[in-house]
Amino acid sequence: MEQQLSVRHLLGIKDLKAQDIQLILDTADNFKEVLNRPIKKVPSLRDITIANIFFENSTRTRLSFELAEKRLSADVVNFSASGSSVKKGETLLDTVNNILAMKVDMVVMRHASVGSPHFLSRHIQANIVNAGDGTHEHPTQALLDAFSIREKLGSLEGKKVCIFGDILHSRVALSNIFCLQKMGAEVMVCGPSTLLPRHIRDLGVKVELNLRKALEWCDVANVLRIQLERQTIKYFPSLREYSLYYGINKALLDSLNKEIVIMHPGPINRGVEITSDVADSAHSIILDQVENGVAVRMAVLYLLSQKK
Ligand code: CP
Repeated sequence: MEQQLSVRHLLGIKDLKAQDIQLILDTADNFKEVLNRPIKKVPSLRDITIANIFFENSTRTRLSFELAEKRLSADVVNFSASGSSVKKGETLLDTVNNILAMKVDMVVMRHASVGSPHFLSRHIQANIVNAGDGTHEHPTQALLDAFSIREKLGSLEGKKVCIFGDILHSRVALSNIFCLQKMGAEVMVCGPSTLLPRHIRDLGVKVELNLRKALEWCDVANVLRIQLERQTIKYFPSLREYSLYYGINKALLDSLNKEIVIMHPGPINRGVEITSDVADSAHSIILDQVENGVAVRMAVLYLLSQKK
């Protein structure tokens, strides 16, 4: 019998077993091979209809899911809160139930409220994929990050990964911490103390406030942007000062005498958390992350479609 996931929704990495992550990454390997063929389409989800419902802005995640669904031959409908009846006061549950009444099998949702995909999973029958819920989790980002590290370095076991920047407001950070630890990597976070959650050490991560020391420690630097749109108070004096203390630039990397794999989930604030000569360097796998996102999301959708 074909291996299956232990879950029927992808709400967060926290709910996954290491075997689930391994299965998703191995399945994504097969789909990446498909994506490199002249005909990049397979009929795996021919009878499945998927709704992508986005209540928050997105470029990469939204396009990547839509492309993954189309490469799997699923029927796809797209919904954005702007321009919808949400603006007239319709609730999340009513919105989704109306979409499901049109016979939708799976829902991919991004929402600003923490726990919104968990809420939906308790009320509707369709498989739910969390495409980012507020500052909580972004599971497919962590899976594509893990896939990209494994592709670049051969494995995740024992690798030292440091996540830099605005950890406090980042769903990418939390999902990455869960995913990397489950796969045997060591995780550090580095940023100004005001942007690190108070109890972050309880997750078993190392904490480093000094950028240079963190870079000296890690094999992989996953650099996050400052999420100004989620910040209601000032956490540091200015972007210029942030960049001075926590911006990763070429001169700093060159002075380390070691090679570090550079990652960023996007969107990049060039010149703030990372300079262009680092983001676009040979050590950067930022666009590989984007490319791998399609194969990883194909794997997630395919595996969840087997869990009715
Ligand atoms: N990495 C990521 O989630 O990017 P988007 O917000 O553009 O989807």
